[in-house]
Amino acid sequence: MKFSDLIKKKPVDPPEAVPPPAPVSKPVPAPAAPPAPSVFTQIPKRPTESTTVQPLPADEPDEVIEQRVAAHALKATEVYSEALGVLRDLFRNLQSPEPQSSWPVPKEVIFELIALLQSGNEELLALADRSTPDNYLYAHSLNVAVFSLHLGLAMNLPKEELLTLGLGGLLHDLGMIRYEALALKAAKLSPEEMSLIRKHPADGQAYLSVFPTLPADMKEQLFQIIGQSHERAGGGGYPSGLTTAQIHPLAKIVGLCDIYEALTHVRPWRNRMLPHDALKVLIDQFETEFDPGTVRTLIEALSLYPPGSFIRLSSGEMGRVIFTNRGLPTRPKVRLIMDGQNQRLSRPKIVNLATHPILFISESVDETHVKSSDQRLMLELRAQRWWVKGL
Ligand SMILES: [Fe+2]
Repeated sequence: MKFSDLIKKKPVDPPEAVPPPAPVSKPVPAPAAPPAPSVFTQIPKRPTESTTVQPLPADEPDEVIEQRVAAHALKATEVYSEALGVLRDLFRNLQSPEPQSSWPVPKEVIFELIALLQSGNEELLALADRSTPDNYLYAHSLNVAVFSLHLGLAMNLPKEELLTLGLGGLLHDLGMIRYEALALKAAKLSPEEMSLIRKHPADGQAYLSVFPTLPADMKEQLFQIIGQSHERAGGGGYPSGLTTAQIHPLAKIVGLCDIYEALTHVRPWRNRMLPHDALKVLIDQFETEFDPGTVRTLIEALSLYPPGSFIRLSSGEMGRVIFTNRGLPTRPKVRLIMDGQNQRLSRPKIVNLATHPILFISESVDETHVKSSDQRLMLELRAQRWWVKGL
């Protein structure tokens, strides 16, 4: 199964939604397409008012959209920063020589992330695309929680399951704190070191005892998520080589988001992939590695150009994705900042590709490699890749 096959199977895609870099040349349908029917096969959709994501606002003046994006970015930064602090304190406690044996469950972090995502704040997804300079474990755990919750909301999971899912994302790599030196090692790991790393799900499960107030049923589900998020649909994962029917549905979501997050972020031993390219890899591997329904929902929720992605349009102009358009995975709303000669536009321009049938995304771009005679712009673009607060 290839990238293009999966896209063709999506019933809500516009007819011109072919895989990049093929240009989109036909008119697109009106943006008010009917909502996509769920393709997730493991968890039935259970619409509830409390988890319904607000619809995308209709086209508005650029200034209004700019203000909304700026307000979303401010709020997302505040919540993301706080959440990183909570994780850092938890991890440091567990790593200390005499850790406290009772720690509060970080439920508030999850409720805040859910509230932001439900309000349509896609700047949170853009923040989760950034890299952290030193220890990546906190940010990785938080990012996996953010992407998992975004999927969970797209599936209309009830609030209780969203809480478990979010906590599962936050805590899935808890056991890695015992192997931090190996996780941060730049050289290729030896077979002995790899077998140590494969113990981290069991270590993570053991660390759950630090949360004595966890309800028994939630603790049991978290036990399964932590233990199974490194299993793979075809049986090639670890620690137990489970196959798709044996893996907890929430562990499949966390496992998929874990891989997506890892591919799209730099590690001491390799560079990152652009989000669009990482999604293509997941699609190409989904038959052996992942649950197809979960992969489809990830693409429905993130689109093929997730928020924060830097892109070049067929006009030559460049900018970043600021909002997805549900059901139109190749036609997000973008904020253009550069012209076709890689010069800064006199003022940023918002383009909703859902309503501009002539324009299309010609390529996904690594903004840190963009060449321009505007040195300041190049520095700004590189700086935007990194999260440097509160670590
Ligand atoms: Fe992970």
